[in-house]
Amino acid sequence: MIGKNLLSAVLTLSFLWATNAEFENNVCPSLWDYPTMKDNPNCWYDFAAESKVPDIIKKTGYPFQEFKVQTKDGYILTLFRIPSIHSGNSGKGPVFMLHGIQSTAAIFVSLGRHSIAFLLADAGYDVWLGNYRGTEYSEGHATLNVTDRKFWDYGADEIGLYDVPAMLSMIKQHTRRRDIIYIGHSLGTTAALMYASEYPEAARNTVKLFVFLSPAYKLSNIPSPYKILFPLLKPFMRVTSSLNVVQLLSRGYSRRLTGSTCLASTALMLLCLHAINIYLGPWTQIAPETLPVYFNQLPGGTSLKTLTYVTEASKGKFTKYDYGRGRNMIKYGTPEPPEYNITKITVPIVIYFARNDWATPKKDAINLYNTLPNRIRYGLYEVPAENFNHFDFLFGRNVKELVYDHLLKLLGRVSETDDLLAGSEKKN
Ligand SMILES: *[C@@H]1O[C@H](CO)[C@@H](O)[C@H](O)[C@H]1NC(C)=O
Ligand SMILES: *[C@@H]1O[C@H](CO)[C@@H](O)[C@H](O)[C@H]1NC(C)=O
Repeated sequence: MIGKNLLSAVLTLSFLWATNAEFENNVCPSLWDYPTMKDNPNCWYDFAAESKVPDIIKKTGYPFQEFKVQTKDGYILTLFRIPSIHSGNSGKGPVFMLHGIQSTAAIFVSLGRHSIAFLLADAGYDVWLGNYRGTEYSEGHATLNVTDRKFWDYGADEIGLYDVPAMLSMIKQHTRRRDIIYIGHSLGTTAALMYASEYPEAARNTVKLFVFLSPAYKLSNIPSPYKILFPLLKPFMRVTSSLNVVQLLSRGYSRRLTGSTCLASTALMLLCLHAINIYLGPWTQIAPETLPVYFNQLPGGTSLKTLTYVTEASKGKFTKYDYGRGRNMIKYGTPEPPEYNITKITVPIVIYFARNDWATPKKDAINLYNTLPNRIRYGLYEVPAENFNHFDFLFGRNVKELVYDHLLKLLGRVSETDDLLAGSEKKN
């Protein structure tokens, strides 16, 4: 556990080390080992702390494929696939995973062989990892350059209504299956809710089950740091759009910045972690050896407009983007942006939430579940740990025991059941 008392002690040390030399140690099992990492026998080399997703998958020893898919509005997205290692029809079918704000598909392959993507592949699933627009793996566009300001003019709606259906169609086309299991984290769940309430029929014919880790719907119970900072976003966007700095903040630049800054010393590692945890939840399960992996991969790039979703959600709203009364009239035909009607969803949903998740609080997860139509409520699970936050679903040291084992068992039952809704009276 990372003690806060450690912080002041380590601050006085503040050693620097080289992070770019290949195969040199780059992770250590305790913060005390980091200052002497280079020659420290406790430390070792973890390629996940330096590699991109394709390399991580290949180096971990799994088959790997990459697909490009173009959305209706021209964005070119990258989908990674770990094809089923079981041949023929013995495989359990496709699983699609979608990350949240400021991350990429990397979050699903960051814990070595215990990463959720690899555990699913081991269990016989055909694993597909999505990267929505604007993340470092999906910076392509049919006509726009990633340096154009117009490229970054999108929000959560476009992710849910363009990116998600495009990626799911690609999977359907390649697998010829209509029973995709969709696992989302954070904004990856928001996009699913938008998609499935806007296109309920298409969703029903594509997705068998939604699994939501840290679901983000209405976030009325989000704690104060968000409530103070996020309302400043729109005024900030207005200022920056005249200065052309939007894409600079949006792009992988921020990741490169945190990567080199947060890994520069043990003290900075702790500072970064605590700064990030103001938003994610105070008590994290992340192990010291996972910190360099974490800072190598986050944040993954997003538009400022996507972040405004959190502003609206914290006011208890789940609507399309609010352009202001005048433009709303033109776009939607109403002065207020229309609300997504999640009671239209016809695909079963399972929710996993954590007690100390500050980004997507427990109360809001329960509220979402209770708002869903009764027949699609397929399970609501609280992670049985006191100290577990938003990103521990991907980076926590005990996440396999606390979440993944449970999830794999549940998915095993799901893949043996043809119609999940048929037995919907019996669920807990
Ligand atoms: C995008 O713009 C940059 C800078 O203006 C330029 O160097 C690059 O070649 C452009 N890329 C494409 C694909 O047009
Ligand atoms: C939401 O959808 C349900 C089911 O189609 C419908 O009965 C209800 O009237 C809708 N609510 C709103 C506010 O549109």
